[in-house]
Amino acid sequence: MTYPASMLVTPAARIAGEITVPGDKSISQRLALLCGIATGESVIHGFLRSEDCLHTLGAMTTLGARAHFHSEECLHIEGNGGRFLQPAGPLDLGNSGTGLRLLAGLVAGRPVEVTLTGDASLCSRPQRRIAEPLRRMGAEVALTEPAGTAPLRVRGGPLKGIDYDLPVASAQVKSAILLASLWAEGTTRVREPAPSRDHTERLLRAMGVPVQSIGDTVILEGAGPAGFDLRGAEWRVPGDFSSAAFWFAAAAARPGAVVTVKQVGLNPRRTALLDVLRQMGAEVLVEPDPAGDAWEPVGQVTVRGRGLRAVEIGGETIPNVIDELPVLAAIAALAEGETRIRNARELRVKESDRIAVMADNLRRMGVAVEEYEDGLSVRGPASLKPAEDIHSRGDHRVAMAMAILALHGTGPVVIQQVQCVATSYPNFWKDLERLTR
Ligand code: S3P
Repeated sequence: MTYPASMLVTPAARIAGEITVPGDKSISQRLALLCGIATGESVIHGFLRSEDCLHTLGAMTTLGARAHFHSEECLHIEGNGGRFLQPAGPLDLGNSGTGLRLLAGLVAGRPVEVTLTGDASLCSRPQRRIAEPLRRMGAEVALTEPAGTAPLRVRGGPLKGIDYDLPVASAQVKSAILLASLWAEGTTRVREPAPSRDHTERLLRAMGVPVQSIGDTVILEGAGPAGFDLRGAEWRVPGDFSSAAFWFAAAAARPGAVVTVKQVGLNPRRTALLDVLRQMGAEVLVEPDPAGDAWEPVGQVTVRGRGLRAVEIGGETIPNVIDELPVLAAIAALAEGETRIRNARELRVKESDRIAVMADNLRRMGVAVEEYEDGLSVRGPASLKPAEDIHSRGDHRVAMAMAILALHGTGPVVIQQVQCVATSYPNFWKDLERLTR
């Protein structure tokens, strides 16, 4: 799908309907990586055909996996069995932090030298967080200095297991270490300061790799250079909770609105938004699907709006709502009182500086915002102003969050640079049209 450079969003007369959202981005990328190193063919239903996932898949094909789409969302991957081809040039991960960081871990224990790069946003994001543990395990990692960013080069080699305390709650860093540890000698223990999404652990377990989670620590006994015998299998990707989140927020913010999302992923480390919306006053009904695949919980969620009140968000909730904070900041403008988001410094190093970019955009729509080093506060209910100069800064979740707020505005809002939505939710504008028609 091709997008215009900007999008005009007008206030919605109604917000209602039932939809399914595209496949989970985090899970699709992990499947591309792990099916990409398995032996034999994997069939993945509901693979998210977005730019981030296609970049990750493209990198795996350069490294020796074979992939083709059997139909729009059914992907077949023939893995490289752990025998990586030496790529001739850099692997381009586009905008995908998950793709770049997890791939750095995946190649760290293999006899290849790989350069990983991406777009300007990805090449501005911090990578010492992966370089440091991978070096400790025995890989050579060269970053672009002095900023410690991509392009980065990983020269893989024999690895040993490490005990590692993550300095930040990051599923990407945790996953990079776990993927490297597959080929390491000895035990790897990764301790998290707060629970982050556990898709890598779940998928590895489902593939037969003995991964234990004990308290705040994930433990994996490496197989050494011979690796694990991972076999191709059939997978079904749940709908992406972080994409569904835009519709949940849209419905929550309007009394009388109601949205149901079917077949959506309900991993408990992803769904903190639902608790936050309940606290803000929305009615939330979760119906788990008992027939869903055991490795990732799936179900149907209905959110009904009743008028919002302000909320405080911080502490251990943050990693479980991290990608939903832009849309929460947006609808906080419609809530009664001052919403405060703290302990969310990580937002500054996402696809954009989401604290600064959201604060700037909200102000352009007439919202009173205070910015902190680790978060922001938003005063509501604001009298929203039409605006022609809302800017995504190339960040998909900022573009979509501002579109949701615009549905509740008083006049047209133009959002600049919306092509980025294709990184995670290619049909976003179509679905917006459907639910507000
Ligand atoms: C992701 C982890 C999170 C999240 C990102 C996807 C993943 O990032 O924000 O969108 O797929 O593991 P961090 O690990 O940097 O917190």
